[in-house]
Amino acid sequence: MAEINKNYKKLAAGYLFPEIARRTREFKEKHPDKILKKLGIGNTTEVLTPKVIEGLKQGVKNLANINTYSGYGDEQGKTELRLALSDYYKSKGIELTPGDFFISDGAKPDSSNIQSIFSSDSVIAIQDPAYPVYVDSNVIAGRTGEYSSEKAEYEGLIYMPCTEENNFFPSVPDKKVDLIYLCSPNNPTGAVATHNQLKSFVDYARKNKAVIIFDAAYSEYISDPGLPRSIFEIEGSKECALEINSLSKFAGFTGVRLGWTVVPEALVVEGTIPGEIRSLWNRRQCTFFNGASNIVQEGALAVFSEEGLKESKTLVKYYMENAKIIMRGVEAVGLTYYGGINAPYIWLKTPEGVSSWDFFDKLLSETGVIGTPGSGFGPGGEGFFRLSAFGHREDIESAMESIKKNLKI
Ligand code: MLT
Repeated sequence: MAEINKNYKKLAAGYLFPEIARRTREFKEKHPDKILKKLGIGNTTEVLTPKVIEGLKQGVKNLANINTYSGYGDEQGKTELRLALSDYYKSKGIELTPGDFFISDGAKPDSSNIQSIFSSDSVIAIQDPAYPVYVDSNVIAGRTGEYSSEKAEYEGLIYMPCTEENNFFPSVPDKKVDLIYLCSPNNPTGAVATHNQLKSFVDYARKNKAVIIFDAAYSEYISDPGLPRSIFEIEGSKECALEINSLSKFAGFTGVRLGWTVVPEALVVEGTIPGEIRSLWNRRQCTFFNGASNIVQEGALAVFSEEGLKESKTLVKYYMENAKIIMRGVEAVGLTYYGGINAPYIWLKTPEGVSSWDFFDKLLSETGVIGTPGSGFGPGGEGFFRLSAFGHREDIESAMESIKKNLKI
C-alpha cells in the first residue's frame, strides 16, 4: 500500500507567498475597483538589460544552427560560465576554481536540495526569522518533529533569534548543531553580517565540524565596501561552508532561472576527505538535474561581461533607489524600520499590539499595499513586516503616497 511522505503533514501552513496571493485574490474579489500595489514577494519587475538580451538571443541562434546546436549539456553547467564565475569571485579577492561551481536553475532549488547530501539525523540551525525554504525542506526530509502552533516552532529545529537587540544577526548556537543556514544580506530582515560575525560562525563550524550553508542571493545589494559579500572572504571557511547564489536579484533572472552553488574541494565533515562532499553534490545533480537551460546560460555569460556587469549594477541601483523611497515613506508615518541600506528589503515593526498578519490585512484594506507578514518567516518575525523594493518606480511611489495618506496608526 502506497503511503505519502507524512512529513508534509507537519508543514505549518501553505507556502508563504501563495498564501499572500490567495488572501490578495480574496480581497480583490470583494473590492474589484481597488488598485493594489505589490511590495510583497521579492520579484523583479524591470526588463532584462540589452547585453543579457543579446546573450539570450545568441543562445537561441546557436540552437537554430546545426553546427552550434547543443542538446543536454554538462549537469554542472557550461565550462565557460563556471570560468566566468571563478573570475568574478577572483575580482573580489576570492580564489575558487571553476570546478567549485555548480550551475543550476536557481538559488531556491539549490537551497532546498542541498540538505539531501547530509545525514538524515543532522541537527539544523536557522536564523529566526528565515527564508522559509530552509525550514520546509528539512521538515519534509524528516529532520524535525511536529510543529507547535503555540510556539510557532518545529520541535528539534534550533532557532537562532535575530532581534533588534542583536542587530538581527545571531550568536553561534550554545549547543552542537550540524548544518547552519545563514543568509546575508538577510531575507527578510535586510541585515548584513560583518566579517567578525561571520568569523564567529566559521570558528564555531570548524570547532564543531558543522557545515554553513550560506545564501548570498542578495550580495550584489551591498554597497558598503566594509561588509563581506561572500562567506569565502572569511579565513578557514572553505573547509566548513558552501555558498548559494543566483542571478535572480542581480540581473532580473527571477523568471529566467539561473543560480549556482559553490562547493569547495576543501569542505569536509565527519568521516569525509576533501572533495568527497563536492562529489556527492555532483552525484546528486547528475542524478536529478539535466543542467540549466543552454539559452539561459548564454544570457548568464553575458551578465559577466564588462558591459553586462555594468548594466546589472545599474539595475541594482534602481531597486535600491526604490528602497530609499520606501524608507522615507515608512519614516514619515513614524514606523520603526531596519534593512533597506545594503539590502532590497525593509523590515518594519508593526504598530504596538498589531500582529504581522493583522498588519497585512490593515495595510491592504487601508492603503491597497501588499507586503509580507514577518511571522511567515518564523516565530522571530512576529510583530514585523517586510516591504520589498522590487517594483516599478511609479508603483513604489504610489504605494508610499497611499501609506502616508491612508494608513491609520
Ligand atoms: C522573497 O520574496 O522572499 C523571495 O523573492 C522569494 C524567492 O526568492 O524565492
